[in-house]
Amino acid sequence: MKNIRLGVNIDHVATVRNARGEKYPSPLRAALIAQKFGADSVTIHLREDRRHIKELDLKQIKSKLRIPLNLEIAATNEMIKIAIKYKPAFICLVPEKRKEVTTEGGLNLRYKKKFLKSNINKLKKNNIRVSLFVEPSLRDIRESKILNADCVEIHTGKICNLINQKKNYKTEIKRIKEAAKLGNKIGLEVHAGHGLTFKSTKILSKISGIKEFNIGHFLVGESIFSGLGNTIKKFKKLII
Ligand code: PXP
Repeated sequence: MKNIRLGVNIDHVATVRNARGEKYPSPLRAALIAQKFGADSVTIHLREDRRHIKELDLKQIKSKLRIPLNLEIAATNEMIKIAIKYKPAFICLVPEKRKEVTTEGGLNLRYKKKFLKSNINKLKKNNIRVSLFVEPSLRDIRESKILNADCVEIHTGKICNLINQKKNYKTEIKRIKEAAKLGNKIGLEVHAGHGLTFKSTKILSKISGIKEFNIGHFLVGESIFSGLGNTIKKFKKLII
């Protein structure tokens, strides 16, 4: 039994909705279906430019969802304020660049160190579990512990690209294994996410010490063909 939890990221349900400025497809409906079909948490990323999830989605999902809501946010005063207002169970702090298509790398933990430390503590005082989205770097794992985070989410974008392109991913998987091992050793809960497909999830689920995957783009895309519930069930089978 691997017993890895599945966080279902529904940002791209909002992307499709926003493409036409309609009220559908509804991220709230997606969140409730995810809950019904075995998701362990639902993830939404409230970006500074609100390009997919809006504050109203956050409000509605928070009030109706019974499994934990994981809110991804940039480390800014505005976003910390919103997090404390809505109090999701989990926060994942991510880097954000306005022009990027998606979160391109892990947080730079040395930049804004003071800000991170005080705000991580502030979020924790509000009973919010705090995770930092980091590269599979031993230095960043150690730094996350010093900053008093509860968890780290290892950025899997690079390895997923290598797997998709059928390239050698030995070096990258070694980095992830070592990062996960260190994280566990120093008392951080280790998660992983970004770019995951059925194939990369299966490969990464064999790494010991990873407790949670957060999966969005591929999962929502696959749902067009197989349905959201079936796709979640298929991912769950790979990781339990
Ligand atoms: N984890 C984090 C921290 C992310 O920023 C994202 C993308 O929003 C994901 C996981 C999910 O990545 P993907 O949509 O590629 O599955």
